[in-house]
Amino acid sequence: MSASLPRIVILATGGTIAGSSGNPASSARYQAATVPVSQLVDAVPALAGIARIETEQVAQIDSKDLRFDLWERLAARVAHWSTGDDVDGIVITHGTDTLEETAMFLHLTQPCPIPIVMTAAMRPSTSLSADGPLNLLDAVRVAGSTQARGKGVLVVLNQQIHAARDVAKMHTSAVDAFASPVGGPLGFVQDAYIRFHRAPAEGRVPVQRLPVPANWPEVEIVSSYAQPGRIAVDALVAAGVQGLVVAAAGNGSIHETLAAALADAAGQGVAVVRSSRTGAGHVAIPEKVRPEVGMFASAMDLNPYKARVLLLLLLAADPPLARDPQRLQALFAAH
Ligand code: SIN
Repeated sequence: MSASLPRIVILATGGTIAGSSGNPASSARYQAATVPVSQLVDAVPALAGIARIETEQVAQIDSKDLRFDLWERLAARVAHWSTGDDVDGIVITHGTDTLEETAMFLHLTQPCPIPIVMTAAMRPSTSLSADGPLNLLDAVRVAGSTQARGKGVLVVLNQQIHAARDVAKMHTSAVDAFASPVGGPLGFVQDAYIRFHRAPAEGRVPVQRLPVPANWPEVEIVSSYAQPGRIAVDALVAAGVQGLVVAAAGNGSIHETLAAALADAAGQGVAVVRSSRTGAGHVAIPEKVRPEVGMFASAMDLNPYKARVLLLLLLAADPPLARDPQRLQALFAAH
């Protein structure tokens, strides 16, 4: 092993990339989060030729069960490894189901002095044509590259490099499940060749001064559809929710019944943010205050799940923001 190779730390959290099945021919029946990170690395001997690898098993979960305390632990391990002067990059393995939320959290909270690259897999490690080994190799290549420096948190899957803020899982099972629906991927990796087509969007403002996760606000997602009731919103407000993201129709349109319930919620100091359930595109900020949406901030191009992460971090850092829709809108526009 050459000391000139980049030193890369792999932080493993579980997911299908660490999944296994007794039936290699099945890509749908398996147990996620069973294979330790040391074994995942051993399965890719080519890693030893491109990096000096260190591993840490931060968690071993199916990411559907993601909790804020894992984000806190992950952030602490990222901070630990990225402040030493001898680590060149960090790779985080994660389940695909909520990867976009953890990516958004890290994007908003980590200063990234070195590349931080998330990766995952759609097929378990024991399946035929498992995608995890190549994704891991590519993620390590990107984490060790000088081109990845200064680009924030990245997500590498299926030979594509995505910005953490933009990427979303768009398919239940396909190997090319991940996309950046608004701007496209930042670049690609093919063997040793790494190419960035564009830089990530500007305007990242790290959210600081976070309280412990137990004190984070309650922020939930509701959706607009044909004849919605107001039961869910009223119940959430009665339960003390501090923020609501609406997965609105089209360009942020909200059914009048739901809009009335949300207006009442806003009147009681709940932050309301409009995102879109379409999966791509920007939610317009109305030029004039319209009664049905005027007091609700636009999530801009963030999908409801990413908008929720931003809203909960903003409210955790600054609770009075819930009563200031204009400032909230300015912060969504800046992130
Ligand atoms: C998970 O998200 O942990 C399971 C599904 C996957 O990784 O594809």
